[in-house]
Amino acid sequence: MAPQISPSILSADFANLGADVERIADAADWVHVDVMDNHFVPNLTLGLPVVEALLKSSRLPLDCHLMIEDPDRWAPAYAEAGAGSVTIHAEAARAPVRTLRAIRAAGARASLGINPGTAVETYADLLGEVDMLLLMTVEPGFGGQSFLDMVLPKVRRARKLIRDADKPVWLQVDGGVSAETIERCAEAGADVFVAGSAVYGADDPAEAVRKLRAQAEA
Ligand code: DX5
Ligand code: ZN
Repeated sequence: MAPQISPSILSADFANLGADVERIADAADWVHVDVMDNHFVPNLTLGLPVVEALLKSSRLPLDCHLMIEDPDRWAPAYAEAGAGSVTIHAEAARAPVRTLRAIRAAGARASLGINPGTAVETYADLLGEVDMLLLMTVEPGFGGQSFLDMVLPKVRRARKLIRDADKPVWLQVDGGVSAETIERCAEAGADVFVAGSAVYGADDPAEAVRKLRAQAEA
């Protein structure tokens, strides 16, 4: 699949979210929305009401990344609200199969998030239940952290598992993805790239997205 770029609004201006999403709307494929509950991760961002507001104004589909303690309870509501993709974390979900199926039943792409210290092999049997795997390339919770090279072998192993399972599963990397690291991620087999500070820290966020895409395609 051609690489896709999903800028994270965690690094956008929270007082002007609609306008900041519009700035990347012609260049990006998705808008990555980091939902944090201050329990699964030590940070608090936004929830369903803000996602509902963004859904009304955004021309791009929303890629909702739920870093929350109880995704089984909340994830279906994001799909029902109209999110294009909903990621639940493997470390948090108590009934991932049921929740992933509920996300799909509500019409969204279902995705499973995996932290740096969590093995992907544990979830190989779930590849038929997901449309995407999100591999964290930092510990979740904050934007602007340094990319963890130690995750790259897992990106390779995940790509092989997907190929062996012969399922159309996208492979997303999230955390520290930038002009310095995106080529390594693409080479390892990632095809959906989240970038927060590398996009919204740039003078021209749309141009930053275009450059990242060109690097991922190279
Ligand atoms: C971190 C979030 C990421 C974050 C990435 O927990 O899941 O989506 O916004 O930000 P950068 O690209 O700055 O590492
Ligand atoms: Zn994220």
